[in-house]
Amino acid sequence: MIYESIINRRTIRKFTQQRIPSEVLKKCVDAARLSPSGMNRQPLKYIIINDPKRLPSVFSTLTWARNIPGYKHTPDEVPTAYIVILLDTEIRKQAGNDPGIAAMSISMVAHEAGLGSCMLGSVDRPRLQENLMVPNHLQIVLVVALDYPREKSKAVELKDNDTEYCFDAQGVLNVPKRDLDDIVVWNTFQT
Ligand SMILES: Cc1cc2nc3c(=O)[nH]c(=O)nc-3n(C[C@H](O)[C@H](O)[C@H](O)COP(=O)(O)O)c2cc1C
Repeated sequence: MIYESIINRRTIRKFTQQRIPSEVLKKCVDAARLSPSGMNRQPLKYIIINDPKRLPSVFSTLTWARNIPGYKHTPDEVPTAYIVILLDTEIRKQAGNDPGIAAMSISMVAHEAGLGSCMLGSVDRPRLQENLMVPNHLQIVLVVALDYPREKSKAVELKDNDTEYCFDAQGVLNVPKRDLDDIVVWNTFQT
């Protein structure tokens, strides 16, 4: 079941604008809270944003699908919730791998609840920090956008080492993934 969920999750960037129950958003953060953390220091904090008045100012700080020229949202395709992952620098100076692990936990709980999600590292951090009035000792690391999916996306075979995702004739996002045999070595590189 976990394997199926993980291989079937794809990044979703366009949404149906249904409201997400607060309980589901809380569950996403709770899963992040209980995720692995280097030395168990747990330096991450979270902001859940679902107030419709606050959503546009978050959206305006994000860059979506940078490698698809002209990729744009109409007003009825934007997400209705975000979870901002923050590093508390009073606990640790470096976030290490914790934010990525937390983001994956959030995405998988969202996926199980029928939501689509997009992790965003391309964030105008100074502006978002100001918009959300985040105190200085908390640094924005990643944003996860959430809502019910409006677009389809699938993993496809990678050709010519080209990792760029693009839409096919049916409007489905094709996301090339490297072949297992190309990325794994058993035991040693020695032949
Ligand atoms: C750390 C991280 C940062 C990302 N930042 C962005 C981003 O700023 N904008 C965006 O549209 N997608 C972003 N993505 C989503 C990736 O583009 C997406 O995961 C990739 O294309 C593979 O697609 P998949 O998630 O469907 O397998 C990010 C993903 C990760 C893991």
